[in-house]
Amino acid sequence: MANHGCKFPIEIQPENHEQIVFAQKIANQIHPSIVIPSTQQLSTTALTLLVGFQGITLYSPYLKASIKVDFLNGIIGYRCRHSSNKELIARAVKLKNIKNPRVLDITAGLGKDGFILASLGYQVSMVEKSPIVHLLLEDGLTRANQIPELSEITCRIFNIYKDSIDYMHHMDKQDYPEIIYVDPMFPERSKSALVKKEMQLLQDLVGVDQNDPLLLEVALEYAQKRVVVKRPRLAPPIKGPSPGFTLQGKSIRFDIYLI
Ligand SMILES: C[S@@+](CC[C@H](N)C(=O)[O-])C[C@H]1O[C@@H](n2cnc3c(N)ncnc32)[C@H](O)[C@@H]1O
Repeated sequence: MANHGCKFPIEIQPENHEQIVFAQKIANQIHPSIVIPSTQQLSTTALTLLVGFQGITLYSPYLKASIKVDFLNGIIGYRCRHSSNKELIARAVKLKNIKNPRVLDITAGLGKDGFILASLGYQVSMVEKSPIVHLLLEDGLTRANQIPELSEITCRIFNIYKDSIDYMHHMDKQDYPEIIYVDPMFPERSKSALVKKEMQLLQDLVGVDQNDPLLLEVALEYAQKRVVVKRPRLAPPIKGPSPGFTLQGKSIRFDIYLI
């Protein structure tokens, strides 16, 4: 049984009767301590997974904020419809003369970067260690898969629930990806209150990543061509070997390690 890994208690609230069985299945999958309350009232102390016909939303009573993975609307939907090979992330992963390179995203999170990469044509495997974050991502991908315009993208995505270090150590040689992508959790510096709250909620869920140097070290062992690390623009590189080159954006930077 997985550890849900969150410092707050978690509850699951089915929006109506039809969702009770599904909610129970999720609770059993994630952790025995997850409660399905008997009232329809939102908890004031627990993070709540709201399970409805329109998907799964995570709500925090502390932040009064919620997270739902939505690849059709909002920033991510816009970015996917307008993504181009000139974007910084596209330039960071671009390899010359290699057909259909595969990307292993070892810090999947809510799948934004992985989805953008898949929309650019890459085969993307996303690995996430938090069962709740994985659940939210799986829910977003399932809904995206039902939309023809997006199913062309989701068919290039594999969503994996596992610790990446363990995953990489168990890959078959023929599955070693050309590119490994890493975006560890970092204190959020966005000016947008909404983005700040979403990132704070994600951090409440998974904590700040302590394993960055190990993630980099193991990624360098298994990537065939390059490891791409996303950092806040002014943050130091991850402890370890120096990147081969960097690409600077307005608020973020990519450190690229060549194999
Ligand atoms: C900043 S978020 C990634 C955001 C993602 N790039 C996006 O676009 O939505 C970092 C994520 O990496 C996950 N993570 C950290 N270490 C991991 C590991 N060893 N294995 C799998 N996932 C890990 C965390 O749980 C968190 O969800």
